[in-house]
Amino acid sequence: MLKSTISRRGFLKAGSATGAGLLILPSGTVLGQNPPSNRLNIALIGAWGRASQHYGALKNENIAVVCDVHKGNLAKGMAEFPNATPYEDWRKALDHPGLDAVLCCTTDHTHAFVANWAMNRDLHVYMEKPLAIRANEARTLRETYLKKKGKLATQVGTQRHADPNFNRLREMIHDGAIGELKEVHVWARGAASKPGYLPAAGAPPAHLNYDLWLGPSPEHPYNPGYFELGDRAGLGCQAWNKYWDFSTGYVGDWGSHTVDLVWNVIDAQLPTSIKAESPEKPHSDVTPADMRASFIMPANDWRDKIRVTYHQSRTGPKSPLDWIDLDEIRHGALFKGSQGYVIADFKKRLLIPFGRSADLSYFQPRAREDVAADLGHFQHQWTAACKNGRPWETACNFEYGANMIETLCLGLASFRAEADLEYDGAAGRITNVASANAYLTKPYRKGWRLDG
Ligand SMILES: NC(=O)c1ccc[n+]([C@@H]2O[C@H](COP(=O)([O-])OP(=O)(O)OC[C@H]3O[C@@H](n4cnc5c(N)ncnc54)[C@H](O)[C@@H]3O)[C@@H](O)[C@H]2O)c1
Repeated sequence: MLKSTISRRGFLKAGSATGAGLLILPSGTVLGQNPPSNRLNIALIGAWGRASQHYGALKNENIAVVCDVHKGNLAKGMAEFPNATPYEDWRKALDHPGLDAVLCCTTDHTHAFVANWAMNRDLHVYMEKPLAIRANEARTLRETYLKKKGKLATQVGTQRHADPNFNRLREMIHDGAIGELKEVHVWARGAASKPGYLPAAGAPPAHLNYDLWLGPSPEHPYNPGYFELGDRAGLGCQAWNKYWDFSTGYVGDWGSHTVDLVWNVIDAQLPTSIKAESPEKPHSDVTPADMRASFIMPANDWRDKIRVTYHQSRTGPKSPLDWIDLDEIRHGALFKGSQGYVIADFKKRLLIPFGRSADLSYFQPRAREDVAADLGHFQHQWTAACKNGRPWETACNFEYGANMIETLCLGLASFRAEADLEYDGAAGRITNVASANAYLTKPYRKGWRLDG
């Protein structure tokens, strides 16, 4: 079963040269000295917070639109891109004339909406993680994307993916460093929760369009607690991402990055069975802190059926060696094969062959010339793919990303239903516990459509 054709490898390799900033443009210039004629017209939706960490990567392009529901944050984005047109409502921003692409850093509950509306308008999309917050949203995005894969470049914002360790880990396991892949554990530490939705606390301030901030979410009264970390770039999400109507909790937070480490290796589509376990009882308002979810992933053309377990807790899987404390690895993965283990985090990997095969004679590492080139700059890989005629050549396109977040959302559905679930991925239905299907979607506010 091993030595796959490694289809993803092909595109990562092809994408790597461009991602490294070596895109040769028709004019003969290189990325980094981008002439106006080669610049994308991009709408930056969500202008501050995580968005500020994209400013540098966007400076090579033309930011035609800056959109934010918070006047102060809109002003920060406009100060960075003074030639842009400001918008408050992303639905109007997407219809700005001449746009090529959208980079979106808003709240998680708006991601699937912005992404789907943008693709419907034939705009390339870079979407901050998590791509979606329910299985139905992920499925819609995958469907729209697959229809437009030949013309739209998409990327989910799991930028750690650009670390060369992602490629090395994939190569080791595909080349047979642990024999046949049998089982995978992946863990994300540091999850927290909240007591419940916040009580009404007066009218929203004049600088915030709270109605647009809520967007498709069911109504919740304004409370400044949802914005209490908004002045700390990239940490503002911690104030609102534990609530079911706004997010997926830690799953879409660090879980998205950590599971990406495994997803890049296993070439998975959707699970057939899901089993969540937790010391916590499901809460109507907030996501769990401590949870473990196991997924049975069907066999593919290079490996057998495997179990993948996501641990979102202080302790994770048992270490294969008593002198290696996996609990010291904050975000990591353990791959178990027929011949050994690999332990990995975002930057490092450790091979532990076991038993009589510890001489590694079973393993033939690939030749230097067959090692995948580095992906390069993650955001630049996307802007390059928007221009180079091979838009599918992004590492975390919306097919890859939707499969991953749909799977993780199924783990949350199993947790909420307090039941082991059987899933028909073709139909998008839980087949053994009818009531659990309610957790695959969520109510949306009147007037908001995913398919706009
Ligand atoms: N890839 C990463 O490593 C990483 C790191 C941090 C955050 N993120 C992601 O980035 C996103 C934003 O996180 P944050 O911490 O910056 O949150 P935040 O709440 O601090 O900032 C979000 C920004 O978007 C604006 N906004 C919110 N809703 C909007 C809407 N409907 N239309 C237009 N603007 C809107 C807010 O006013 C604010 O300026 C989240 O999805 C989060 O998961 C990713």
